Amino acid sequence: MPVWDADQYLKFQRERTQPAVDLAARIQLESPGRIVDVGCGPGNSTAVLASRFPEARLSGLDSSAEMLETAQASNAEVNWFQADVTTWEPEENFDLIFSNAVLQWVPDHQTVFPRLVRFLNPGGALAVQLPAHYGSPLHQCVVNVSELLQWKDATANARQRLATGSRSFYYDLLAPLTTKIDLWETEYIHIMESAEAILEWFRGTGLRPYLEALADDDQRSQFEQELLARYRDAYPIQQNGKVLFPFRRLFIVAYQSN
Ligand SMILES: C[S@@+](CC[C@H](N)C(=O)[O-])C[C@H]1O[C@@H](n2cnc3c(N)ncnc32)[C@H](O)[C@@H]1O
Repeated sequence: MPVWDADQYLKFQRERTQPAVDLAARIQLESPGRIVDVGCGPGNSTAVLASRFPEARLSGLDSSAEMLETAQASNAEVNWFQADVTTWEPEENFDLIFSNAVLQWVPDHQTVFPRLVRFLNPGGALAVQLPAHYGSPLHQCVVNVSELLQWKDATANARQRLATGSRSFYYDLLAPLTTKIDLWETEYIHIMESAEAILEWFRGTGLRPYLEALADDDQRSQFEQELLARYRDAYPIQQNGKVLFPFRRLFIVAYQSN
Protein backbone atom coordinates (compact mmCIF):
# COMPACT_ATOMS: atom_id res chain seq x y z
CA MET A 1 0.00 0.00 0.00
CA PRO A 2 1.59 3.32 -1.00
CA VAL A 3 1.73 6.12 1.56
CA TRP A 4 -0.76 8.82 0.54
CA ASP A 5 0.02 12.52 0.65
CA ALA A 6 -3.09 14.70 0.44
CA ASP A 7 -1.19 17.85 -0.62
CA GLN A 8 0.62 16.05 -3.44
CA TYR A 9 -2.66 14.47 -4.59
CA LEU A 10 -4.54 17.78 -4.56
CA LYS A 11 -1.99 19.59 -6.76
CA PHE A 12 -4.20 18.58 -9.70
CA GLN A 13 -7.48 18.75 -7.81
CA ARG A 14 -9.61 20.08 -10.70
CA GLU A 15 -8.44 17.41 -13.15
CA ARG A 16 -8.66 14.59 -10.61
CA THR A 17 -12.15 15.60 -9.47
CA GLN A 18 -13.79 16.03 -12.91
CA PRO A 19 -14.37 12.24 -13.31
CA ALA A 20 -16.18 12.23 -9.93
CA VAL A 21 -18.41 15.05 -11.21
CA ASP A 22 -19.13 13.15 -14.44
CA LEU A 23 -19.81 9.89 -12.60
CA ALA A 24 -22.14 11.56 -10.08
CA ALA A 25 -24.02 13.34 -12.88
CA ARG A 26 -24.91 10.06 -14.59
CA ILE A 27 -26.36 8.32 -11.48
CA GLN A 28 -30.09 7.88 -11.98
CA LEU A 29 -31.29 7.86 -8.38
CA GLU A 30 -34.02 10.28 -7.24
CA SER A 31 -32.93 10.93 -3.67
CA PRO A 32 -30.56 8.38 -2.17
CA GLY A 33 -30.83 8.62 1.64
CA ARG A 34 -27.54 7.00 2.62
CA ILE A 35 -24.38 7.39 0.55
CA VAL A 36 -20.82 6.23 1.18
CA ASP A 37 -17.77 7.49 -0.69
CA VAL A 38 -15.40 4.51 -0.66
CA GLY A 39 -11.78 5.74 -0.78
CA CYS A 40 -12.89 9.32 -0.15
CA GLY A 41 -9.26 10.53 -0.07
CA PRO A 42 -8.98 14.19 0.95
CA GLY A 43 -12.75 14.65 0.55
CA ASN A 44 -12.82 16.05 -3.00
CA SER A 45 -15.13 13.35 -4.38
CA THR A 46 -17.33 13.51 -1.24
CA ALA A 47 -17.81 17.25 -1.87
CA VAL A 48 -19.11 16.37 -5.34
CA LEU A 49 -21.63 13.98 -3.78
CA ALA A 50 -22.71 16.59 -1.22
CA SER A 51 -23.56 19.02 -3.99
CA ARG A 52 -25.21 16.43 -6.28
CA PHE A 53 -27.31 14.90 -3.45
CA PRO A 54 -27.67 17.65 -0.79
CA GLU A 55 -30.37 15.78 1.18
CA ALA A 56 -28.36 12.58 1.65
CA ARG A 57 -26.56 11.40 4.78
CA LEU A 58 -22.97 11.09 3.65
CA SER A 59 -20.18 8.86 4.90
CA GLY A 60 -16.58 8.85 3.71
CA LEU A 61 -14.39 5.79 4.18
CA ASP A 62 -10.64 5.64 3.60
CA SER A 63 -7.76 3.47 4.77
CA SER A 64 -5.35 6.44 5.01
CA ALA A 65 -5.34 8.48 8.25
CA GLU A 66 -3.52 11.28 6.44
CA MET A 67 -6.17 11.56 3.74
CA LEU A 68 -8.97 11.42 6.34
CA GLU A 69 -7.42 14.25 8.33
CA THR A 70 -7.68 16.53 5.28
CA ALA A 71 -11.20 15.22 4.54
CA GLN A 72 -12.36 15.92 8.10
CA ALA A 73 -11.22 19.53 7.84
CA SER A 74 -13.20 19.94 4.59
CA ASN A 75 -16.68 19.12 5.93
CA ALA A 76 -17.78 18.44 9.52
CA GLU A 77 -21.22 17.15 8.42
CA VAL A 78 -19.87 13.97 6.84
CA ASN A 79 -19.37 10.76 8.85
CA TRP A 80 -15.67 10.13 8.04
CA PHE A 81 -14.14 6.85 9.16
CA GLN A 82 -11.04 4.74 8.64
CA ALA A 83 -11.53 1.28 7.14
CA ASP A 84 -10.15 -1.04 4.52
CA VAL A 85 -12.78 -1.67 1.86
CA THR A 86 -11.79 -5.34 1.64
CA THR A 87 -12.70 -6.05 5.28
CA TRP A 88 -15.23 -3.28 6.04
CA GLU A 89 -18.67 -4.53 7.19
CA PRO A 90 -21.26 -1.72 7.36
CA GLU A 91 -23.92 -1.88 10.07
CA GLU A 92 -26.57 -0.55 7.67
CA ASN A 93 -26.78 -0.79 3.89
CA PHE A 94 -26.50 2.18 1.50
CA ASP A 95 -28.56 3.60 -1.39
CA LEU A 96 -25.42 4.65 -3.22
CA ILE A 97 -21.90 3.28 -2.95
CA PHE A 98 -19.57 5.59 -4.86
CA SER A 99 -15.89 5.00 -5.53
CA ASN A 100 -13.83 7.32 -7.71
CA ALA A 101 -10.22 6.42 -8.61
CA VAL A 102 -9.79 3.95 -5.74
CA LEU A 103 -10.45 0.33 -6.58
CA GLN A 104 -7.43 0.04 -8.90
CA TRP A 105 -5.46 0.04 -5.62
CA VAL A 106 -7.47 -2.86 -4.23
CA PRO A 107 -6.72 -6.42 -5.36
CA ASP A 108 -9.22 -9.19 -6.18
CA HIS A 109 -12.05 -7.35 -7.93
CA GLN A 110 -13.79 -10.71 -8.39
CA THR A 111 -14.51 -10.57 -4.63
CA VAL A 112 -14.55 -6.82 -3.93
CA PHE A 113 -17.24 -5.76 -6.44
CA PRO A 114 -19.85 -8.41 -5.43
CA ARG A 115 -19.11 -7.60 -1.78
CA LEU A 116 -19.97 -3.93 -2.38
CA VAL A 117 -23.17 -4.86 -4.25
CA ARG A 118 -24.23 -6.84 -1.14
CA PHE A 119 -24.12 -3.60 0.88
CA LEU A 120 -26.73 -1.90 -1.35
CA ASN A 121 -30.37 -1.30 -0.39
CA PRO A 122 -33.02 -2.40 -2.93
CA GLY A 123 -33.05 0.12 -5.78
CA GLY A 124 -29.57 1.33 -4.86
CA ALA A 125 -26.53 1.78 -7.10
CA LEU A 126 -22.81 1.06 -7.16
CA ALA A 127 -20.92 3.78 -9.06
CA VAL A 128 -17.24 3.26 -9.83
CA GLN A 129 -14.59 5.02 -11.89
CA LEU A 130 -11.29 3.31 -12.66
CA PRO A 131 -8.35 4.45 -14.78
CA ALA A 132 -8.18 2.67 -18.15
CA HIS A 133 -4.87 4.16 -19.23
CA TYR A 134 -2.62 1.12 -18.96
CA GLY A 135 -1.67 1.24 -22.65
CA SER A 136 -0.70 4.92 -22.42
CA PRO A 137 2.88 6.30 -22.29
CA LEU A 138 2.15 7.46 -18.72
CA HIS A 139 1.96 3.87 -17.54
CA GLN A 140 4.03 2.04 -20.14
CA CYS A 141 7.10 4.30 -19.68
CA VAL A 142 7.08 3.61 -15.92
CA VAL A 143 6.90 -0.12 -16.53
CA ASN A 144 9.73 0.09 -19.09
CA VAL A 145 11.99 2.16 -16.82
CA SER A 146 11.28 -0.15 -13.86
CA GLU A 147 12.34 -3.12 -15.97
CA LEU A 148 15.83 -1.70 -16.55
CA LEU A 149 18.38 -4.02 -15.01
CA GLN A 150 19.26 -1.82 -12.03
CA TRP A 151 15.62 -1.52 -10.86
CA LYS A 152 13.98 -4.70 -12.14
CA ASP A 153 14.13 -6.72 -8.91
CA ALA A 154 13.35 -3.91 -6.47
CA THR A 155 10.24 -2.87 -8.41
CA ALA A 156 8.83 -6.34 -9.15
CA ASN A 157 5.97 -5.93 -6.62
CA ALA A 158 5.20 -2.41 -7.79
CA ARG A 159 4.59 -3.75 -11.32
CA GLN A 160 1.93 -6.10 -9.89
CA ARG A 161 0.36 -3.44 -7.71
CA LEU A 162 -2.56 -2.15 -9.76
CA ALA A 163 -5.70 -4.23 -10.15
CA THR A 164 -7.40 -3.83 -13.48
CA GLY A 165 -9.97 -5.74 -15.50
CA SER A 166 -11.50 -5.22 -18.94
CA ARG A 167 -14.94 -3.69 -19.46
CA SER A 168 -16.15 -7.17 -20.40
CA PHE A 169 -14.84 -8.55 -17.08
CA TYR A 170 -16.80 -5.96 -15.04
CA TYR A 171 -19.94 -6.46 -17.11
CA ASP A 172 -19.88 -10.25 -16.64
CA LEU A 173 -19.15 -9.82 -12.94
CA LEU A 174 -21.99 -7.37 -12.25
CA ALA A 175 -24.71 -8.41 -14.72
CA PRO A 176 -25.88 -11.44 -12.69
CA LEU A 177 -25.98 -9.34 -9.48
CA THR A 178 -27.75 -6.19 -10.70
CA THR A 179 -30.65 -5.21 -12.98
CA LYS A 180 -29.17 -2.43 -15.09
CA ILE A 181 -25.62 -1.40 -15.89
CA ASP A 182 -24.30 1.76 -17.53
CA LEU A 183 -20.73 1.46 -18.78
CA TRP A 184 -18.73 4.12 -20.57
CA GLU A 185 -15.22 5.38 -21.11
CA THR A 186 -13.97 8.93 -21.39
CA GLU A 187 -10.55 10.08 -22.49
CA TYR A 188 -9.79 13.36 -20.73
CA ILE A 189 -7.19 15.51 -22.48
CA HIS A 190 -5.54 17.44 -19.68
CA ILE A 191 -3.63 20.55 -20.70
CA MET A 192 -0.37 20.44 -18.78
CA GLU A 193 2.39 23.02 -18.42
CA SER A 194 5.16 20.57 -19.37
CA ALA A 195 6.30 16.94 -19.34
CA GLU A 196 7.61 17.66 -15.81
CA ALA A 197 4.03 18.44 -14.79
CA ILE A 198 2.96 14.98 -15.99
CA LEU A 199 5.66 13.46 -13.80
CA GLU A 200 4.46 15.61 -10.92
CA TRP A 201 0.88 14.40 -11.52
CA PHE A 202 1.98 10.78 -11.38
CA ARG A 203 4.00 11.35 -8.18
CA GLY A 204 0.62 11.78 -6.44
CA THR A 205 -0.64 8.32 -7.51
CA GLY A 206 0.71 5.57 -9.76
CA LEU A 207 4.41 6.37 -9.42
CA ARG A 208 4.32 6.05 -5.62
CA PRO A 209 4.73 2.25 -5.37
CA TYR A 210 7.75 2.40 -7.69
CA LEU A 211 9.48 5.24 -5.83
CA GLU A 212 8.77 3.61 -2.46
CA ALA A 213 10.40 0.38 -3.67
CA LEU A 214 13.73 2.09 -4.46
CA ALA A 215 16.59 2.16 -1.96
CA ASP A 216 17.20 5.91 -1.52
CA ASP A 217 16.63 9.43 -2.85
CA ASP A 218 19.53 9.06 -5.31
CA GLN A 219 17.88 6.05 -6.93
CA ARG A 220 14.51 7.80 -6.94
CA SER A 221 15.98 10.85 -8.64
CA GLN A 222 17.72 8.73 -11.32
CA PHE A 223 14.51 6.78 -11.91
CA GLU A 224 12.53 10.02 -12.35
CA GLN A 225 15.13 11.46 -14.75
CA GLU A 226 14.90 8.33 -16.96
CA LEU A 227 11.12 8.59 -16.87
CA LEU A 228 11.07 12.28 -17.66
CA ALA A 229 13.22 11.78 -20.76
CA ARG A 230 10.65 9.28 -22.03
CA TYR A 231 7.69 11.54 -21.17
CA ARG A 232 9.35 14.39 -23.12
CA ASP A 233 9.41 12.12 -26.20
CA ALA A 234 5.92 10.75 -25.68
CA TYR A 235 4.15 14.06 -24.90
CA PRO A 236 5.33 16.70 -27.42
CA ILE A 237 5.11 20.43 -26.76
CA GLN A 238 2.28 22.42 -28.42
CA GLN A 239 2.83 25.70 -30.24
CA ASN A 240 2.15 27.69 -27.05
CA GLY A 241 4.48 25.52 -24.94
CA LYS A 242 1.78 23.42 -23.24
CA VAL A 243 1.56 19.63 -23.38
CA LEU A 244 -1.54 17.53 -24.10
CA PHE A 245 -1.95 14.68 -21.62
CA PRO A 246 -4.67 12.14 -22.59
CA PHE A 247 -6.02 10.01 -19.73
CA ARG A 248 -8.67 7.33 -20.36
CA ARG A 249 -11.10 6.26 -17.63
CA LEU A 250 -13.76 3.54 -17.31
CA PHE A 251 -17.09 4.32 -15.60
CA ILE A 252 -19.57 1.79 -14.20
CA VAL A 253 -22.98 2.41 -12.63
CA ALA A 254 -24.78 -0.81 -11.63
CA TYR A 255 -28.32 -0.69 -10.20
CA GLN A 256 -29.84 -3.09 -7.69
CA SER A 257 -33.44 -4.27 -8.24
CA ASN A 258 -36.20 -2.68 -6.16
C1 LIG B 1 -6.54 8.28 -5.84
S1 LIG B 1 -7.27 8.53 -4.27
C2 LIG B 1 -8.95 8.91 -4.70
C3 LIG B 1 -9.53 10.00 -3.85
C4 LIG B 1 -10.92 10.51 -4.24
N1 LIG B 1 -11.93 9.44 -4.20
C5 LIG B 1 -10.97 11.17 -5.61
O1 LIG B 1 -11.98 11.00 -6.31
O2 LIG B 1 -10.05 11.91 -6.00
C6 LIG B 1 -7.39 6.85 -3.72
C7 LIG B 1 -7.79 6.70 -2.26
O3 LIG B 1 -8.13 5.32 -2.04
C8 LIG B 1 -7.74 4.99 -0.72
N2 LIG B 1 -7.62 3.53 -0.65
C9 LIG B 1 -6.73 2.74 -1.31
N3 LIG B 1 -6.91 1.44 -0.96
C10 LIG B 1 -7.93 1.43 -0.05
C11 LIG B 1 -8.59 0.38 0.65
N4 LIG B 1 -8.21 -0.90 0.54
N5 LIG B 1 -9.61 0.71 1.49
C12 LIG B 1 -9.98 2.00 1.63
N6 LIG B 1 -9.40 3.03 0.97
C13 LIG B 1 -8.39 2.75 0.14
C14 LIG B 1 -6.41 5.72 -0.55
O4 LIG B 1 -6.08 5.88 0.80
C15 LIG B 1 -6.69 7.05 -1.27
O5 LIG B 1 -7.16 8.03 -0.39
